[in-house]
Amino acid sequence: MALTCAIIGASGYTGAELAAMITRHPQLQLAGLYVSAGSSDAGKALASLHRTLLGVVDGVLEPLADDAVEQVASRAQIVFLATEHKISHDYAPRLLAAGATVFDLSAAFRFNDAAPYSAHYGFDHQFPELLNEAVYGLAEWNADAIKGARLIAVAGCYPTASLLALKPLEAAGLIAPGFVPAINAVSGVSGAGRKATLTNSFCEVSYNPYGVLAHRHQPEIARHLGRPVVFTPHLGNFPRGIVATIAVQLVAGTTAAQVDAAYAAAYTGKSCVRLYNQRCPGSWPSINAVVKTPFCDLGWKVDEALGHVVVVSAIDNLLKGASSQAIQCVNMRFGLTDFPLVGG
Ligand SMILES: NC(=O)c1ccc[n+]([C@@H]2O[C@H](COP(=O)([O-])OP(=O)(O)OC[C@H]3O[C@@H](n4cnc5c(N)ncnc54)[C@H](OP(=O)(O)O)[C@@H]3O)[C@@H](O)[C@H]2O)c1
Repeated sequence: MALTCAIIGASGYTGAELAAMITRHPQLQLAGLYVSAGSSDAGKALASLHRTLLGVVDGVLEPLADDAVEQVASRAQIVFLATEHKISHDYAPRLLAAGATVFDLSAAFRFNDAAPYSAHYGFDHQFPELLNEAVYGLAEWNADAIKGARLIAVAGCYPTASLLALKPLEAAGLIAPGFVPAINAVSGVSGAGRKATLTNSFCEVSYNPYGVLAHRHQPEIARHLGRPVVFTPHLGNFPRGIVATIAVQLVAGTTAAQVDAAYAAAYTGKSCVRLYNQRCPGSWPSINAVVKTPFCDLGWKVDEALGHVVVVSAIDNLLKGASSQAIQCVNMRFGLTDFPLVGG
């Protein structure tokens, strides 16, 4: 029998992607699409807002009153929180207590201590025991922990692109001691969510850095890599997709073959990561190759004389950086097939 799923924050960019994937998934069933109690979209068909879903997703958006959150868990075994951090922080404990398994797309449970929330998210975290319990949903690296989890904190978009690129080198002990990787990344405008603001308005968006040495994803990447990083995001004038370019100083004497072996060891058999050095040597990951796909594409080149590698990572921020990674985590958690991620 199919597992029932509800999405809180269903009208947003990541929520709509989740609805499409759940509808196509043979072992999942959509049981509720929610927006806030006062939302002007309540009562509308989701597909009337996201018209690629016409004829695909039939559901209507329901208003969710704050005192009705537990009722979502009586309709659905799995609840996705596609909401901003503070709402996820408030709702996840109540949904867990009501018996749901929760997949949170926000950052509300991505750290295992409360300090980053006061420092970077503008609220004091009230649930240290859940921070301790939550499993970081970076699917290729945390499969075993995800299998037993009640609360999965799906990894952020830039952190997914950055960590999938850097963790194989870290795990193989190839990054020079004390070296601080510099990650330069660009994201499409959907990374900021669906709500209109001046900074994501068509006439305002340019290709420019933002959040320099202050972006919330810098501590998330550092925490889950296990070493500091310098992370510089850029806003790109395209709808979706991330490319991260990272230069890393290697341990003295590291060969290109050792770097190749580190990526092969990390990702052989992992169908959502595509290694360009194996599949199409000499070409590089790009936005076009990953948009609307669940893949992370990785390419790298080693300069043995200089002792550096440059790694390039590309994902769709709304899919591998959010919703398809959430479904990957569901598949792992409940032992389902990879559908609809690969070959579906
Ligand atoms: N966009 C990305 O690339 C990306 C990638 C990774 C992670 N994330 C994270 O995923 C989460 C969702 O991001 P998004 O880009 O999909 O945001 P979004 O497009 O702004 O959508 C937010 C959704 O939450 C709903 N909402 C707001 N308050 C609510 C409440 N009290 N109860 C129920 N629903 C409520 C909104 O509808 P109403 O306001 O009409 O109620 C809307 O459906 C965020 O935490 C974000 O940081 C986003």
